[in-house]
Amino acid sequence: MASETLEGARVAPDPDKLNAFMGKMVGDMGAAVSGALVVLGDHLGLYKALAAHGPATSVDLARATKLNERLIREWLAAQAAAEYVTYDAVSGKFSLSPEQAMVFADEDSPVFMAGGFELLSAVYKDEPKVMKAFQSGLGLGWHEHDVCLFRATERFFRPGYNANLASNWIPALDGVEAKLKAGARVADVGCGHGASTVLMAQAYPASRFFGFDYHGPSIERAGKAAAEAGVADRAEFQTASAQDYPGEGFDLVCIFDALHDMGDPVGAAAHIRQSLKPDGAWLLVEPFAHDDLADNLNPIGRMFYGASTMVCTPASQSQEVGLALGAQAGEARLRKVTEEAGFTRFRRATETPFNLVFEVRP
Ligand SMILES: C[S@@+](CC[C@H](N)C(=O)[O-])C[C@H]1O[C@@H](n2cnc3c(N)ncnc32)[C@H](O)[C@@H]1O
Repeated sequence: MASETLEGARVAPDPDKLNAFMGKMVGDMGAAVSGALVVLGDHLGLYKALAAHGPATSVDLARATKLNERLIREWLAAQAAAEYVTYDAVSGKFSLSPEQAMVFADEDSPVFMAGGFELLSAVYKDEPKVMKAFQSGLGLGWHEHDVCLFRATERFFRPGYNANLASNWIPALDGVEAKLKAGARVADVGCGHGASTVLMAQAYPASRFFGFDYHGPSIERAGKAAAEAGVADRAEFQTASAQDYPGEGFDLVCIFDALHDMGDPVGAAAHIRQSLKPDGAWLLVEPFAHDDLADNLNPIGRMFYGASTMVCTPASQSQEVGLALGAQAGEARLRKVTEEAGFTRFRRATETPFNLVFEVRP
């Protein structure tokens, strides 16, 4: 079969290229269907049971989890084909390697990913709503997504914050760690379920933390998380938008993976500037990205552009201004936002494969 170019010339497909592309499609469709199976395994406790009871057969795992053996057998086969669990053909048993256990069974590991797959549930469930946003141009508010997005976001980001925030990111800022240890006022803007706020409150008990987010149910959950972690005496939460949260004289304002979701990031940055002490700092954490699209065409960019199309960009479009930075904004665009808000100093303090970490000062 030949296809037509815009000029009308007929170009025959290259069979080898087509075969290779179909191979990629089979892999990608396998990955896409595996997402639902990871969510199942996570919700049903199958990974944790396998980590605790493996190597195990489907019968062993069914006994340990009190779930249907036949369905577990099928799930295990799919997981082994995906290389998410390990199958030993001699014993007929399944197990998690130490690396697979870190990714799927250990919520406290720095590379726990099972929670993040829940985020993909929201992406699939909300596709009809995003379709309407494409048609209307009016965006889709963060709060309008399926509820699984909010919990999933916290579970996706928390491992990275847990591994980096107090040990790498805060120490990378000029003089900030000493202030937090001595006792400082900190705002966490767009805090969602408060994972970052609670982690900071645990690490710096002499400081006071104020978490803000425009999404009321997330703020409610953040308050409960602080109480569960025993830090409610120094971490409080309030529903407020980034452009007008209350309070001033902050030593540090943080935004973790949220600036690009906002409709008016320049307005938010201007408000941050006036809420900071003159020698205060803004810790801005954004998804890792290069400035040019061509440099982001890689697995990390693929993941973030995907989430950005389905969640972040329509979220920004749904708010006033609707700047729609996207989750792959990159350093140059982020710097421009801060300069337009009147900040004069901006530097990349550090980075991880997933995040850019900036120190911004008045
Ligand atoms: C990707 S989530 C990140 C949440 C949290 N910082 C974290 O890392 O887990 C983006 C957050 O930004 C919040 N948000 C979006 N627009 C906002 C605005 N204008 N003011 C305050 N929060 C906003 C959303 O409600 C959501 O909780």
